[in-house]
Amino acid sequence: MVNISNEASLIRYFCTAGYGMDQFVINEVTRKLAAHDIEQLQGKVLFSSSVHIKQVKQLKSVERLFLLMKRDSPLKLPAHANPGKVASVLRSTLIGDLQQWTSAEMTWRRLQGVVADKEKEREGEDQRNVEEEEVCGEEIGSDFQIMKKRRKLDCGDEYVITGDDFTAEKHDQDTTPPQANQYSSVPLSFRISCKCSGSLSRHLSILEVSKVLGVILSEKLGWKVDLRNPQIEITVYLRDDHCLLGIPLTRLPLANRCYIKTTGLRSTVAWAMADLAQIQSGFLVLDPMCGVGTILIEAAQEHKLACFLGLDVDDRQLHKASENVAFAKLGDRMHLLKASSTNMPLPSESVDVVVCDLPFGRKFGTKTDMAASLPLILAEMERVLRVAGSLVLLLSPQLSCILKKILTQPQTGTQESANQQGAQDVTSIPTQRNEPSMGLMTKPRPPLSSLKHQTTLRLSLGTIDGLLHKYIKTHV
Ligand SMILES: C[S@@+](CC[C@H](N)C(=O)[O-])C[C@H]1O[C@@H](n2cnc3c(N)ncnc32)[C@H](O)[C@@H]1O
Repeated sequence: MVNISNEASLIRYFCTAGYGMDQFVINEVTRKLAAHDIEQLQGKVLFSSSVHIKQVKQLKSVERLFLLMKRDSPLKLPAHANPGKVASVLRSTLIGDLQQWTSAEMTWRRLQGVVADKEKEREGEDQRNVEEEEVCGEEIGSDFQIMKKRRKLDCGDEYVITGDDFTAEKHDQDTTPPQANQYSSVPLSFRISCKCSGSLSRHLSILEVSKVLGVILSEKLGWKVDLRNPQIEITVYLRDDHCLLGIPLTRLPLANRCYIKTTGLRSTVAWAMADLAQIQSGFLVLDPMCGVGTILIEAAQEHKLACFLGLDVDDRQLHKASENVAFAKLGDRMHLLKASSTNMPLPSESVDVVVCDLPFGRKFGTKTDMAASLPLILAEMERVLRVAGSLVLLLSPQLSCILKKILTQPQTGTQESANQQGAQDVTSIPTQRNEPSMGLMTKPRPPLSSLKHQTTLRLSLGTIDGLLHKYIKTHV
């Protein structure tokens, strides 16, 4: 239910989203926040909403959430501009009307009164997505600033000018109600984080951008540079098609989930899979290759009246999944079972939704030949799914081509595939309703014609892309 904030003031936000996630973000902000004036830029969604900030912070499809300070057309730097000219363009484009900055400060202060209390829950999560960190130093005026290069799993390279990791202890402890403004007479402390991409990055130094902005904000607004523990981090995105300035509203990305102990598939993608499946109250949702259970946990957080079943063949994955289930306090409606997706110990037409992220890529690859196993796995998924149930699969582009073939051509290779598997669990493929095990298949099967294609979407999984497919089972 949409909960409009007491102050009923309209706030303009923007958020970042992984490649392919924009439409999920647009749907989510529309549905949960009654958002309007939605604008989609590459990898970002801008929107306005009057909904309480706590609800905005619950968004599941976004990476980071910002209070929008300024959105402008791209920076236009004259060819061979001298440093003075560059600084003047930066000042006029990025700073513009100072009134905008003071009103953004007021909005931020008001929001801080109500957002701070949840921050602590996320503590300790921020290192999860950082694969690699290089540190180098640079002398700027009298301040020794540290520039860290963070290579993130999904978001490409990001440069942050910082004296230390961004800590917001002040915010964490601040439970001031929105009307009160305890900081108003104290100058706001800030630092600047600049992300520059495209051709601009060849002509512009992000240190220069930060320096120009920093000097103006200190001189004109009396804000105080604080690299170690600032109250706000002004984030500047400079791209060839837009320039955006904002203040992050959470210290850690919203994509870091406080209810997951061991992460598997990226949480936003797992959430998107559950969203696509259109789960309803009373549904039984199956992930036949559940890994650490990310998709089921994301689905369970959203659908409190549904039940969940995860299968996997790997004991270590199942152990982590059971820790995750306990950590998220979902033990009463989420169950795990050691079983193969090629021979599921489930009656036919017994589940309402099947969601599955098949192994592929470096991180989640497997020794099993997935291409050979896919017909068996798909036949099992089709068997256990009830009519009108949905099947949502995440596959590599290669496996997606094989899927397409399987769904359009008669399956003759089942015996061969089973032999390639060499595992006990593929020797019996259930083919009929209520007969989980009918012995080795030797005859060609018809195509899996009951699965009607609904949609295919391409998403970034970091270093590789995945394809999300949705099918509905139309008949037995
Ligand atoms: C891509 S991972 C799933 C990751 C999962 N979505 C997560 O977030 O942790 C694929 C999983 O399939 C499991 N697996 C491989 N072959 C299997 C089979 N025949 N039956 C069931 N699980 C299998 C692997 O052990 C692995 O945990």
